[in-house]
Amino acid sequence: MKKCATLLLAFLVHASAQAAEVTIRIDASHPGPVISRYLYGQFMEHLGRDIYDGAWVGPDSPIPNRNGLRLDVLQALKDIHVPVIRWPGGCYADEYHWRNGIGPPDERPVTLNMSWGGIEETNAFGTHEFFELVEAIGADAYVAGNLGTGSAREMAEWLEYMTSDSHSTLAELRRANGRDAPWRVAFFGVGNESWGCGGNMRPEYYADLYRQTAEFLKVSGERPKKIASGGHDALTTWTEALSQVRTNIDGISHHYYTTPSGVWAAKGSATEFAEGEWISTLSRALRVEDHIAAQEAILGRNDPEGRIGLYFDEWGAWYDATPGASALYQQNTLRDAFVAALHFHVFHRHAARVRMANIAQSVNVLQAMVLTQGDALVLTPTYHVFKMYVPFQDAMSLPVSYDELPDYVLGQYRVPSLSATAARGTDGKLYASVANLNPHEAAEISLTVAGAPLKRASAQVLTADAMNSHNTFAVPGAVQPKPFGGIVVAGSTLKMTLPARAIVMIGID
Ligand code: AHR
Repeated sequence: MKKCATLLLAFLVHASAQAAEVTIRIDASHPGPVISRYLYGQFMEHLGRDIYDGAWVGPDSPIPNRNGLRLDVLQALKDIHVPVIRWPGGCYADEYHWRNGIGPPDERPVTLNMSWGGIEETNAFGTHEFFELVEAIGADAYVAGNLGTGSAREMAEWLEYMTSDSHSTLAELRRANGRDAPWRVAFFGVGNESWGCGGNMRPEYYADLYRQTAEFLKVSGERPKKIASGGHDALTTWTEALSQVRTNIDGISHHYYTTPSGVWAAKGSATEFAEGEWISTLSRALRVEDHIAAQEAILGRNDPEGRIGLYFDEWGAWYDATPGASALYQQNTLRDAFVAALHFHVFHRHAARVRMANIAQSVNVLQAMVLTQGDALVLTPTYHVFKMYVPFQDAMSLPVSYDELPDYVLGQYRVPSLSATAARGTDGKLYASVANLNPHEAAEISLTVAGAPLKRASAQVLTADAMNSHNTFAVPGAVQPKPFGGIVVAGSTLKMTLPARAIVMIGID
C-alpha cells in the first residue's frame, strides 16, 4: 500500500513537471477577413503625462525634440508602425474647444481640465501639434469631437479648419497659423462615453443627437469615417440604438478596460500581485470576446451588410493609482504583455466587424507603450507585443483550432492554457503567435499548417523571470523579446517547447 502511494506520488510529481502537449492547427487554405492595421491603434488624451511631459515637452526643452515633440517617443511609436492616433480624449474630448489650441502659443488661453483634476491646460498642444505628431510617425488622425459641451457647428468648423482647401476664413486662418495644405482627417468621432463623462445621456437621445450632428460633418475632400460613441463592457443598448442609424455612420465605438478584481474602487496593483491576480486579469481580458460577440449579434441583425464597424477605441489594463505619480500612471509588467496579446488574438478572430482598436494610452498613462522620466524612456512589455505583432497589420487572418487544449485553473478562474493566432502577412509569409498563459508549466506544441508548404521558421519569445517582471529606468531590459531557437520543422508541422508565461511570435517561410 505504502509502495503504491509512493509510486503514485512519483507519477504525479513527474506529470506536473512535464510539459502539456497540444496540437495547434492552422488552415492556410481558408483565409478569413483582413486584420485591419487600425486594430493596432493608439489613444492620446490630455491626461496625466500622456501629452505634456510625455510625448510633448515643448520646443525649449533640453530633451531632444522636434517643435516640442520628443524625438525618442516619436521613434518608438514609428517603430511599432502606429497606424492611427485618437485625440484629444477620452472624457477630455467633451470639454475641449479647438479654437483654444491654435495660434501663437503664448496667446492661447489657459483653461482648466475638469475631467482630470482641474489642472491648468496651457493649450500649447493643439491641432497643429497633433498633426505634426501623426505626420511624423506616419499615422492617420482620429479626431474626437466635442458633443458634451460643444455643438454640431463647433465640430463642423473644426473640420473645415483642418480639411478645407478653399479660401474660407477658417482655411485662411489655418494658413496664417502655419499650415498651408489641408490635413487628412481619416476618422472623426462624435463625443466620447456619452453614457457617462460625455453627458450622461440615454442611447436613444444620443442617437438622435448623432443623426443631427453627423449630417453637418461635411468636407469638400475625402470624407472622414464617422464614429458614433457607443457603450462599454457587456452593455448592448448603445449598439442596438446606433446600429439603427442609417446614414452618416461608419463605426460604433465600444470601450473595455481590464482590471484584476473587476471592482473599480480596488482594482489591484500594477506590480504587486500573486498568481491569483495573474489569472483573474487574464480571465477578465478574455471577456472582451463575449462583449464583442454580444455587439456582433446586434450588428448582424441591424446591419447585416456590414456597413458599420465596431471600434474598440479604448481598451487596456487599468490598475490602482500609483502613489505619488501623475494621473493614471502605472507600471507595465509581463502580465500586461499577455493582456495585449490576448486582446489581439480576439480582435483578429473578429476582424470582420472589429475594424479599429486604440489602446489606452500611449505615454505614461494606463497600459502605456512607453514611460518617460526626465530624458530617459523605457519601452514596456506591452510595447514589445505591439512590435512583435507588426506583421499582423493588414494581414489575412487564418483559422486556428486546437486538439485537446488543456485549461489553466486556479481558484475560481479557468482559462485556456494557450492562445494562438495566425495570418498571412502582406509580404506573403505565414505568421503565428502562441501565448502560454500557464506561469509554471511549459507546453509541448505541434503547430500544423494545412495548405501551405513549410521550409523554415524563425521566432522571437517574450518572457521573464516572474509574472510581475517589468522594465524600469534602472533596468530597462528586464522584459524584452529574444530570439527563440528550438523550432523543428517536420513536414507540415512545427514542433517546439513553449516556456511557461511566454509569448512566441513565429515567421514561417
Ligand atoms: O482612458 C481614460 C478614460 O477612460 C477616458 O478619458 C474615458 O473615455 C474612459 O473612461
